[in-house]
Amino acid sequence: MDYTNKTVLITGGASGMGLLCGQTYAKDGANIVLADINAEALEKCVAEIAAYPAHVIGVPTDVRDYAQVVHARDMAVQTFGSIDILINCAGGAETRICQASGEFPDIPIGVYDFGIDVNLKGPLYFDHAVLAQMRIQKSGVIIHLGSITGEEGCAGNVAYAASKSALMTGMTKSIARYGAQYNVRCVCVAPGPVLTRPAMARMKTMVGRAAEPSEIVDLIQYLTSDRAAFITGTTYMIDGGRSAMGHA
Ligand SMILES: NC(=O)c1ccc[n+]([C@@H]2O[C@H](COP(=O)([O-])OP(=O)(O)OC[C@H]3O[C@@H](n4cnc5c(N)ncnc54)[C@H](O)[C@@H]3O)[C@@H](O)[C@H]2O)c1
Repeated sequence: MDYTNKTVLITGGASGMGLLCGQTYAKDGANIVLADINAEALEKCVAEIAAYPAHVIGVPTDVRDYAQVVHARDMAVQTFGSIDILINCAGGAETRICQASGEFPDIPIGVYDFGIDVNLKGPLYFDHAVLAQMRIQKSGVIIHLGSITGEEGCAGNVAYAASKSALMTGMTKSIARYGAQYNVRCVCVAPGPVLTRPAMARMKTMVGRAAEPSEIVDLIQYLTSDRAAFITGTTYMIDGGRSAMGHA
């Protein structure tokens, strides 16, 4: 696909599917803005993508901080003149990231605040900031990353499951409804287990394996292309059939 002169802003761009999105769109000619809380990893990723050669900047950003989100948006527009695609990849299960264990009521409430802030408020903040730019452009595509966990629920990662459910229904539909008048589409991609971490291989699927990250990025790329111009306000489950198995 040809993304020459298109600018793609990716949150969580220093690891996993976010980084692979950056690498893939860069190879297809896009300008890349990676926003991630991990400044050290971000610097390495930017250097690697710049070698393609590609136009890329990294903006250390905590998606929980609206001022930092606005700064990332402004850096993208100042550097490249537009934001054509926003991919909200930053996120993750709160008990894993905060290294918390135990039953739900015994885990400190701050762990769940973190889960909501990163997984739900982060995409809301980025959508809010970037839509102000897409409204001026009268074009754009916004991708949310949902999860099979948003469909199944999770006894421990309650905030992660709740945030992903919210992204997969209310937020994707609402952003699509608002954006349509400005030619902005919003679509959610909800993966099952993805091998950005070896542990994901343990989750059962109908096809007997977890996804390669490239299988998810392929779908994201299609959904952000003009070939998907009729697709907005909906969620694509890409889970090897897991959601059709009953809870594994
Ligand atoms: N890997 C899976 O199996 C899987 C399954 C379903 C959904 N997802 C979702 O897909 C997305 C990407 O997953 P992944 O496995 O590629 O992720 P990953 O863990 O490899 O990378 C996540 C990135 O987000 C960044 N990040 C975390 N908190 C942040 C913050 N506050 N501000 C800015 N950046 C922050 C991290 O530094 C990291 O670079 C996530 O939203 C995840 O919930 C993943």
